[in-house]
Parts: sequence; structure tokens; C-alpha cells
Amino acid sequence: MASLTTEINRRRTFAIISHPDAGKTTLTEKLLLFGGAIHVAGAVKSNKIKKTATSDWMEIEKQRGISVATSVMGFNYGDYKINILDTPGHQDFAEDTYRTLTAVDSVIIVVDVAKGVEQQTRKLMEVCRMRNTPVIIFVNKLDREGKDPFDILDELESELKIKVRPLTWPINIGARFKGVYNIYEHGLDLFTPDKQKVTERVEIKDVNDPAIDAAVGAADAGKLREDLELIEGVYPEFNELDYLDAKVAPVFFGSALNTFGVKELLDCFVRIAPCPRPTQAEERQVEPGESTFSGFVFKIHANMDPNHRSCIAFVKVCSGIFKRNANYKHIRLGKILKFSSPTAFMAQKKDIVDEAYPGDIVGLPDNGTFKIGDTLTEGEDLHFKGLPSFSPEMFKYIENTDPMKTKQLNKGIEQLMDEGVAQLFINQFNGRKIIGTVGQLQFEVIQYRLLHEYGAQCRWEPIHLYKACWIESDDDAALEAFKKRKHQFMAVDREGRDVFLADSGYVLQMAQTDFPKIRFHFTSEF
Ligand code: G4P
Repeated sequence: MASLTTEINRRRTFAIISHPDAGKTTLTEKLLLFGGAIHVAGAVKSNKIKKTATSDWMEIEKQRGISVATSVMGFNYGDYKINILDTPGHQDFAEDTYRTLTAVDSVIIVVDVAKGVEQQTRKLMEVCRMRNTPVIIFVNKLDREGKDPFDILDELESELKIKVRPLTWPINIGARFKGVYNIYEHGLDLFTPDKQKVTERVEIKDVNDPAIDAAVGAADAGKLREDLELIEGVYPEFNELDYLDAKVAPVFFGSALNTFGVKELLDCFVRIAPCPRPTQAEERQVEPGESTFSGFVFKIHANMDPNHRSCIAFVKVCSGIFKRNANYKHIRLGKILKFSSPTAFMAQKKDIVDEAYPGDIVGLPDNGTFKIGDTLTEGEDLHFKGLPSFSPEMFKYIENTDPMKTKQLNKGIEQLMDEGVAQLFINQFNGRKIIGTVGQLQFEVIQYRLLHEYGAQCRWEPIHLYKACWIESDDDAALEAFKKRKHQFMAVDREGRDVFLADSGYVLQMAQTDFPKIRFHFTSEF
């Protein structure tokens, strides 16, 4: 089917990731401006959570609520259909970001030129590496003083553990910033600090063109030529296939706030970034071009308004064409479902959609039918892989404080876990329930939602844990011996898999040394 192939080839589904404050929201907004999806800067509501609000999570959820519409931003740019999947800036919602990364075909990483690679970026890059996701790096805020660009490149390589290749190069930085040289297309873009205006381009033949001297002065032109010579000497020529294999990350420099270097990034991005790629299911690899529809749920967004308790399940279309009112099989439930009001996300609006193609995200109204990782198909039993849970970082015992509401509490916990708010482990030693999260906020979210949505009350009790890791072994006796020795620290997850609760890094390390036949995993998929 030619039209399906055309639709697939023109789609680019990606996420922008960064440490908070590096400029993700600003860059997203500028990309939307180029796509004509918005018309003035400042139109994108930041889903960044203001630092002062960290203790008031209702406020945070309100801010997050705003972001449902901006969770996915689709727009057309030239012949391309672009889907930007937004990720929460707050690190307490990092798990959301990890899952969103399972639904994208590539990633743009934003790095602040003054701060370099920060912690959150490092963590997110690990997820990209696990999945072999191609990345492009945008070094932002060149209008401010920052690190030397060569130092930034070294830092990117060592901290993100990926080879880099600059495709644009800055002329000075901060107050003396004059623009960037486009190595990829041999052009010179002059910097005019202006939040609405786009780049001014000087047409040149190559790096020796005297037009460069005329535009930026002989001294800076000379320095640029030296830098470029060094780049050509040190970094191998850019190879698109290496980028697609996630072996090299092209680097762009610019200033998102000033809309500078953004168009260059976007133009190169649409050309080189991958269109929807095959998705691995347990049964087989699913090609986007297959004629039958398949997709999976990678995110469930709760509606915080207590009068509208339904959620939205975000489904990534993996193959075929999703059609409104068609019958699809919900594999886990073994049920046939039909969706009369699926939504697509164009610009910043959410609209009912009749069809969606691979790479697109469809929002389905959900009243507890979906769980993260659920698969929909036209009938074939497929289970998509690659939606692991990550070892949580914070743990608490959850205790029921109203014995009359035990059923409600259990149901609430089950459903919140289905949504992926946190992870549940049952301690095998004392039978108590442990909730694991990546941030303190989730505990407040859970307590509040259990009360308001399920009428159940809970209380948290401290448990001192360092990590929960999934364990397995080919040697049953060794596994049993381990479980016996660590019986106080053994738990099961919701699928009944063995989980070891290590109370310190040292204990974990000792366990790994003492039990060489046991494999310790930090994600639930191995
Ligand atoms: P985030 O989503 O990654 O958290 O970052 P965001 O885009 O919100 O940007 C963080 C701050 O950095 C914002 O300033 C933003 O205006 C600024 N910024 C983004 N890009 C550039 C750039 O190229 N140059 C400079 N100089 N600043 C940039 P803020 O004061 O925190 O917020 P606001 O009040 O300006 O919105």
C-alpha cells in the first residue's frame, strides 16, 4: 500500500530531553513556531514544575494537567509529519520519561552550554543507550557565557558515552557570540538576538569565502578556520548510518530563546532522523508497513478533576492504520474493543481522529481497561517488549488506616500501579506491601488519589532500602540458596517475579560477589 509507506516515511516521532532548565520547553516552542503550529513565542505552557511548588503536589498536578494537551505535539513541517512527545521536567516523574522514550524513534538532547552534561541528562541517555535510540544534541544558550565548545564536545563524549560530531560550529560565545558556521550545509548564520526573528543567513561557498571575513571580521574568521580544521582532523566525517545505529551523535549549537540555530537543527533532523522503526514483540518483530494495525500503551494520564475520573491511555501506533470504530483486540484481556472517540494531537489541540499511522500517538479514553504495556491488534496475539520498570529509588511500606475500606484500598493500589504511578512489591518475609517510586512526590500523589478516588486511607511507614533488583539464575539450587539466605529481604513484584531488596550499596555488592550464579537486574525486562 503506497500511501501507508508514504505516511510512514514522512513521520518523525521523537522526544526532547534535558536536565531541567536547559531549555527544552523553549526549544519545543520554537520548533512549533517553525511548524506553524503556533504563531507567537510564549504560547506553549511550560509543563515544567516550578521549584517553589515541590511541596504542593496538587499544584504540580494542575500544571501537569495542562500538559495533557501538550503531551504529544503533532505538526507538519514541509513534507514531514512531526510528533514531539513531551516528557515531564520534574525528576520525580522520571519514570514517565523513561516510558515515553520507549515510544520514540529518536531523541534530541538539550544541553546548557554553561552547565554542560547534568545528572538527569546522563540518566536519560542511559535509557537511550539501552534502546539504541539515535540522538542529536543541541548545545543551548550560546548567547550566554559558557564552556569552550571543544570542552563541551569532550564532556558530551565522556559523560554521555557516545561519539559526537559537530555539524554546526559557534563563532565566539556569550556577549561576543556572532553566529554559527553550518558545517553540514556550508553556510554562515549570523546572530541577531531576537526572540521572534529567525536566523539571518550569509550565503558562502566554503570556509575560505572572504564573505565570512566581511561578516564577522578577520580575526574571528581566522579562528573559525582554525577550529574547523581541528574538527576535520579530530572527528571523522559525519556518517548518517552511524547516527541511525546510535553510534554517533551530531551536535548543533545555538540559542533556543533567540530562535537561533533551531531551524538548522530542524532541517537536518527531518532529513536524517529515522522514520518509525520496527517494534520488537515477544513473538516476532513487527514492521511499521504491515497492513494490520498494532500498537501499545506507553503512558496513562489520569484526569485530576475528581468529577471526571477517566484517564487517557496513550497508544503508539506500531504498524498498519489505526481506525476509529474498528474492532481491536486488547491482548491482555482477550477482549474486542472499539473506540468511538480516539484523539490525535495536532498543534496544541486534541481532536477526534479517524485514522492514525505508525509513529502517531492516539489518545484513548480509559476507565481502567488499560495498563502500561498493553497491546492492541487486529487479532494477532502480540506482546510488545521494551517497556521495562526501572528499579525504584525510594521505598515505603503502605499501611491501611481504615480496615473497613480494605477492598477499596487494594483496588486503588492495583489501578494506580497499572497506570505506572509507582511499583508494588510484597515482602515475602512479613507479607507487607512496599511501594517503590523514583521521587518523594509520588507518595503524596498516591495517598491523595487513594483517598479522593477510592475513598481509602493509607499511611506510610519508613523502610530503609537502597535498591530493589530482579534476580534470576539458571541454577535453581543456587537461586533457592540465595532466597533462603536473604529471606528477610526477598519480595515479589506484581507478576510474581523474585525481587531482592538490598538495604545498602555495600550489601548489594557483597551479594553480587558471594552469589556469582545469580543475575541481578535493575530493570524488570531482561
Ligand atoms: P526546561 O524546559 O528545559 O526546563 O527549560 P526552559 O525552556 O523552561 O528554559 C529555562 C530557562 O532558560 C528559561 O528562563 C528560558 O527562558 C531560558 N533559556 C532557554 N533558552 C535560552 C537561550 O538560548 N538563552 C538564554 N539566555 N536563556 C535561555 P527562566 O528565566 O527560567 O524562565 P522564563 O521566565 O524566561 O520563562
